[in-house]
Amino acid sequence: MCLTEISTYTTTKDTTLNILVIGQGGREHTLVWKLAQSSLAQKIYCTPGNAGIAQIAEPIQIDDDFTKLADWSEAKNIDLTVIGPENPLAAGIVDVLHERGLKAFGPNKQAARLEGSKDFAKQLMLKNDIPTAAYQTFEDADEAIAYIEDIKIPVFVKADGLAAGKGVIPGRTIAEATQAVKTILVDKTFGNAGNSVVIEEELIGEEASFTVLVDGKNCLPFVSSQDHKMSHDGDIGKNTGGMGAYSPAPVMTPELHEYVMERVVHPTVKGMSDIGCPFKGVLYVGLMITDTGPKVLEFNCRFGDPETQVLLPRLKSDLVPLLIACIDGTLDQHTDVQWRTEAAACVVMASGGYPNPYQTGKTITGLEKADSIEGVTVFHAGTKENENNVVTAGGRVLGVTALADDLKSAIEKAYRGVTAIHFEDAHWRKDIGHRALSRTIVNYKIR
Ligand code: AMP
Ligand code: GLY
Repeated sequence: MCLTEISTYTTTKDTTLNILVIGQGGREHTLVWKLAQSSLAQKIYCTPGNAGIAQIAEPIQIDDDFTKLADWSEAKNIDLTVIGPENPLAAGIVDVLHERGLKAFGPNKQAARLEGSKDFAKQLMLKNDIPTAAYQTFEDADEAIAYIEDIKIPVFVKADGLAAGKGVIPGRTIAEATQAVKTILVDKTFGNAGNSVVIEEELIGEEASFTVLVDGKNCLPFVSSQDHKMSHDGDIGKNTGGMGAYSPAPVMTPELHEYVMERVVHPTVKGMSDIGCPFKGVLYVGLMITDTGPKVLEFNCRFGDPETQVLLPRLKSDLVPLLIACIDGTLDQHTDVQWRTEAAACVVMASGGYPNPYQTGKTITGLEKADSIEGVTVFHAGTKENENNVVTAGGRVLGVTALADDLKSAIEKAYRGVTAIHFEDAHWRKDIGHRALSRTIVNYKIR
């Protein structure tokens, strides 16, 4: 079978694919859910998966060893591997699979540095005149502290490497920023991810996520989305992976969309190619929309979580040919990608205590009732099966997602889904989408 043909939509009955998805969260459940709708998908596996994923894909347990994963993939005739989280990408999973002639969606190890090293990303932005916060990088704690004493506070102190979303520490005072430097460089709380720190000026504005498929050269932007990173209502509390999301994000007007493509996305993709590191996969740009325009907060090299939970339900087109086109460098042939005009909202139900320590193993009820509400889909994140029950197995447990004609209705519907579900000590934000709803000019019908 010829995957290039598939990427240009020549689908026949014998061009069905065995697909492996790597990961276990809400993003991966949504990916599996969308991939399973493809007429090109024959069999879907997921490792390690969760209780929701297990209903539509075969869960498998494979060692973290990429060579063993490649052996297994060859034995099972896997045609396409889709990698959800950043860690395996940064560790070179795509390189190992490609060396074995296996198709894998995502950047290789060199290109994954865009997320894996904040200093690498900042240097790329500086070199290509991409708008971002002013910064300095330090390996020496004393030098970093001397710098903090000299500059305007607040700052953001960031571990250079991957730190499971916990490596960004706000320094609202000199003492707080100094402590952040010590935590990262001296105490080594994030291990080798903290061999250097990036210290950044504070950017003020509204955040938005920008998701683009990239094939090394060509870009296919997704509709807009926004997540809520803070743990509690009113965007207070601790930074989390994301407590909810919605799409479209009215903050991303068509004008800003064009600006971000021109000033951020194209220069990033070209900049990576110029240094011999073509980026293939998902480029997730975390943006702050400041008074002087959008500025990059971070790059991720994979789909956002929970942004995926609101983006893929809005994607009408088949995802499989798009992912293959990213691998094959043929994304320019996909000019007719279709999106639903409906809006989507996702409310994350978390374990009591999250993002601080929490208990697991709580029985979840009401999942079927929530799923039966028209337009509602419950994506599992931290769940597993235990003696015929679905129980909690992580901090973020479920992403209750709804599609509706407008954002207000989608949010209301998602909350209707939430109230149908129960597990002990569940907590969720009650104000998902509040910024979008409080806007007077609503552009979300456009993208
Ligand atoms: P990052 O992982 O770099 O996106 O940082 C996590 C979160 O910290 C972001 O989503 C922002 O809410 C916040 N943040 C990071 N850098 C800055 C900055 N320079 N100014 C303001 N907020 C920031
Ligand atoms: N929701 C933020 C992220 O996926 O990094």
